[in-house]
Amino acid sequence: MASTTDSKIILITGANKGIGFATARHLGRAGHTVLLGARDPHRGETAAATLVQDGLDARYLHLDVTDPTTVDDAALHIADEFGHLDALINNAAITGDRGRPPSGLPTGVLREIYETNVLGVVTTTNTMLPLLRRAAAGRIANVSSGLGTIAILADPDSPLRDYARLLGYNSSKAALNAITLVYAAELTGTTITVNAVSPGFCATDLNNHTGVLTADEGGAHIAHQIDFSPASPHGVFLSDQGGTYPW
Ligand SMILES: NC(=O)c1ccc[n+]([C@@H]2O[C@H](COP(=O)([O-])OP(=O)(O)OC[C@H]3O[C@@H](n4cnc5c(N)ncnc54)[C@H](OP(=O)(O)O)[C@@H]3O)[C@@H](O)[C@H]2O)c1
Repeated sequence: MASTTDSKIILITGANKGIGFATARHLGRAGHTVLLGARDPHRGETAAATLVQDGLDARYLHLDVTDPTTVDDAALHIADEFGHLDALINNAAITGDRGRPPSGLPTGVLREIYETNVLGVVTTTNTMLPLLRRAAAGRIANVSSGLGTIAILADPDSPLRDYARLLGYNSSKAALNAITLVYAAELTGTTITVNAVSPGFCATDLNNHTGVLTADEGGAHIAHQIDFSPASPHGVFLSDQGGTYPW
């Protein structure tokens, strides 16, 4: 991880398992206070307790990105306890279109995917932005995927070609990429940076454990991409391989 000498307050959505949980563990080990957003209290408390047992400063926060009341309550809690937020990692996401051709995906499933992967990010970002503005160097990291990159979806020779037909997931991540750039444009000239970040293809529940990396490796990639230094990139899609992805 780049240039962190002091402890930061970092909120990760969907942090009770998978890459979000692994990201929390890596950032906690780096000495930061990690707030594990989770929609299910039992899963969230269990995840936070696991990190606390490891000696990390980890707290569960009830946060369902599709339920604005829980996001508002989480922001109030952070304001009361810390007064500001240093980093928001928009990690929570779902897929519901695996095994279904685009032409066979019910609109209701598409809507559910967008509620979480797109609108949930906007709700959480807008609600947390006042707290991020109070930080010395606020950071917003949107966990995206190469499957949201139009250039990759358009490439018939892409190694990701087998996954090109995920209508809901891929288009939601493409929307997330656009959202990242739009927020980056609004926040240019402030101390807040906004980037899309990538864990790499990890074996998690999201893909029925077909990924080639572990969730822990994915979490390490995300943690590494959170840069609190003044040299932090801004308005780019950071690749897990280093460098950047095309949009
Ligand atoms: N796995 C990969 O290869 C890969 C590659 C590129 C990008 N990504 C991205 O990495 C992120 C994490 O994915 P993952 O692979 O770790 O998936 P995962 O294991 O399925 O974890 C997803 C997390 O999101 C949470 N979540 C879902 N809906 C939520 C909601 N409405 N509010 C709050 N939390 C919610 C889940 O909570 P529950 O336990 O309650 O369901 C879970 O904690 C996602 O943004 C995904 O798109 C993954």
